[in-house]
Amino acid sequence: MQEQLKELVKQAETDIQACVTANDLMNAKAQYLGKKSVLNGLFARMKELSPEERPAFGNMINQSRTQIEALLEIRSKQVKEQAWMNNSNASSYDLSMPGIESSRGGFHPLTIVRREIDEVFLSMGFEIAEGPDIDDDFHNFDALNTPADHPSRNLADTFYLENGGLLRTQTSTVQIRTMERYAPPIRIISPGRCYRNDKPDPSHSPVFHQVEALVVDKGISLGDLTDTLQQFASIMFGKKVGSRIRPHFFPFTEPSAEMDISCVVCGGSGCRVCKNSGWLEMGGAGMVDPNVFDILGIDSELYTGFAFGLGIERIAMLKYNIPDMRILFENDLKMLRQFKGELR
Ligand code: DAH
Repeated sequence: MQEQLKELVKQAETDIQACVTANDLMNAKAQYLGKKSVLNGLFARMKELSPEERPAFGNMINQSRTQIEALLEIRSKQVKEQAWMNNSNASSYDLSMPGIESSRGGFHPLTIVRREIDEVFLSMGFEIAEGPDIDDDFHNFDALNTPADHPSRNLADTFYLENGGLLRTQTSTVQIRTMERYAPPIRIISPGRCYRNDKPDPSHSPVFHQVEALVVDKGISLGDLTDTLQQFASIMFGKKVGSRIRPHFFPFTEPSAEMDISCVVCGGSGCRVCKNSGWLEMGGAGMVDPNVFDILGIDSELYTGFAFGLGIERIAMLKYNIPDMRILFENDLKMLRQFKGELR
């Protein structure tokens, strides 16, 4: 009897080892452990034995059963693994190959330049202030000493909203919002989006970015403005770059000026980029008009201040040699990918 069972297990082992598919295994299981299997048949014959013989006999059958089950389980694992290998063609894997780097995004050139500008001014002791893109007449015009009939208030220039608000046309709104909330001394910059009803062309876009700067304290002079401009130009574009201011007009500054830096392309000798003038326009500036202080309840006898607004697109275009402002807003992936390495 024992011999017969040993034979059976041996035969089962050979057959199970020969199984290649899950189906083969199912058949083998039925054959060796199923209702019509030899083992089951032997179980049925237990009643022919005397009660004393039965336990030892039962034990032997159970042992064989456990062995066959173990054999089936081992082979089943192997068959599954083989199927996975075949499926995924795993045999062609080269585990020593370096991994494929997953692609990371990069920053938009305007973001890179804005962050650089932030850093320059932070290093000079400025803080960063923010204001809303959707603002109102008071902050965008009235408090900036802009007359009611000033052309910039026109629908042709300013996007008005149905609720009476507007999309700010300049970050100078943040000067007002800062002076409303904080008493001098003030030393802030405020980078942000501005909106104007302009047709897109190589140097205009209905959405663009400015960085506003405002310094208010006792004894602030025009010299502080030109000095700050020169420091900014040197850090941003290099020590050799010069700067100057020219008289201009803005309602909220007196005197007002436009700021230039010497051409970073030709060094000032004249080229296509600076239209042979040797200078590049950076934005508007001036000494805060005492009227603005008066509107906001700041003592204009005690305090003076300077302010300026820089165009971020202009700086990005100069820095990266981008000939048309629209390129910065079309977001062509081929253009954007060139800035991927410039992560900050
Ligand atoms: N807001 C002006 C503009 O958009 C630029 C400007 C001029 C900002 C003079 C200033 C300033 O802070 O003092 O054209």
